[in-house]
Amino acid sequence: MKHYFSLIVAAALSLTACGGESKSTMSSATPASSIPNATPASAAVIASDVATGTLAGPECTTVITSDDAMKFDPKDISIQSSCAQYTIILKHVGKMPAAAMGHNVVISKTIDKDGVLSDGASAGFDADYVKVADERVVAHTKLIGGGEETSVTFNTSKLVKGEAYEFYCSFPGHYAMMNGKIAFSAN
Ligand code: CO
Repeated sequence: MKHYFSLIVAAALSLTACGGESKSTMSSATPASSIPNATPASAAVIASDVATGTLAGPECTTVITSDDAMKFDPKDISIQSSCAQYTIILKHVGKMPAAAMGHNVVISKTIDKDGVLSDGASAGFDADYVKVADERVVAHTKLIGGGEETSVTFNTSKLVKGEAYEFYCSFPGHYAMMNGKIAFSAN
């Protein structure tokens, strides 16, 4: 149920704070050891937030798990064009704080990622290591630490068929371990 509440709080924040960029620290007080690796609550969370219009439906959602070892799971995401909106839920099941082991999910064309990463590093921690209003970024979550969870929902009209896209963490030095491919295709 902790996932449920933290996501609802995050959803409420994104509804009230324009742009949804405010940092939710609600779950930072939650001991990471109490966060299960499995995601049994996700279906309920998604169903609940779909009703509020915050998240896309389960068939248009991917849950990405990250940890203190800089692992992303899964490493590949397939987005069907029938999904008008797509939701990425990011969970950090580690224990380290965002300042030391922060993770986000940034989506861009593969050809854009070097620039996005370099400008993100310059933007710094307070900007979630993403340049403000970077038009190369299709979507990104905020940066979270161990025990936290966040999500981003974006319009798939931003994706071009046949273009190569990746998702990755823009925390400096994390790209090498924390990246994956996005396949965007017609059903
Ligand atoms: Co990271």
